[in-house]
Amino acid sequence: MAPRPVIIDCDPGTDDAIALLLAFAAPEAIDLRAITVAGGNVGLAHTLRNALALTALAGARVPVHAGADRPLLGRYVSAEAVHGADGLGGIALPPGGAPAMGLAMDVIRAELRAADMPLTLVGIGPATNFALALASEPALAARIGEIVLMTGAAGAGNVTPAAEFNAWSDPEALAILLGCGAPVSLVTLELTAQARVTPARLAALSACGDGLCLRVACDILAASLAVGAHPAGVPLHDPCVIAWLIAPGLFSAESCAVAVDCAPPEMRGRTRIGPGEGAKLLRRLDADGFFALLGARLSMLV
Ligand code: RIB
Ligand code: CA
Repeated sequence: MAPRPVIIDCDPGTDDAIALLLAFAAPEAIDLRAITVAGGNVGLAHTLRNALALTALAGARVPVHAGADRPLLGRYVSAEAVHGADGLGGIALPPGGAPAMGLAMDVIRAELRAADMPLTLVGIGPATNFALALASEPALAARIGEIVLMTGAAGAGNVTPAAEFNAWSDPEALAILLGCGAPVSLVTLELTAQARVTPARLAALSACGDGLCLRVACDILAASLAVGAHPAGVPLHDPCVIAWLIAPGLFSAESCAVAVDCAPPEMRGRTRIGPGEGAKLLRRLDADGFFALLGARLSMLV
């Protein structure tokens, strides 16, 4: 199988960092055409700097484009308490290069227009950039093979009782993606709760090699474990999306119906997921297989 052309939109972010490194280590599955960045876990200045630094760290030749620094309609609110003020849990990386020319929404549209095969859009942050692209040129949805999103929850949220952070950060943007007509696959909190980093799993990951990228990834994960108490481990949200592209056999999936609430305030960002058609819900994860994949791939990087 030829690798599928992919754009990753992210808000690095400790788990985004691991997801980007995993994507760089899967060239047989992922032809990474561009990385676009939004404000999310931390402000755009930090998320952009982090995406550039991670791309340079891995020696990946992928253009990184700045995008939205705020949601479509709401107010920007960070998740610094989880990811640290710098977005990487305090793990300092050598600076990367300069961002590529072009705003995220424009690059996403250009890549969709130019693609010689359907593009996969991977969203692991607030959906603002993808929404701006598709709202301004809706016909481009026909050129999308799959939109894979880390977003939402069937049950309790993680930023409010009702909402998961990416959905809550820009629910109007998520609604645009859910309604654009392209196939949408959802990686929700229920899925990522099966991919928990524990001290034992971190130790096993660290033993997979001695390359710089693996070491940085383990340092970032150690920093995540050190924030707050995680008796069951820290859910590794965003890398689950990349693992779906590399090893779909690690997952079970089923069709579902999904909608996102934009109001009232206490329900803003709630995703109502139930039986039906319209989207694919990733349900089960082979967690041991996931962490084995992570170790095998990250140890392949420099
Ligand atoms: O709720 C988890 C999601 O929000 C992850 O993508 C994390 O990086 C944050 O963006
Ligand atoms: Ca993210």
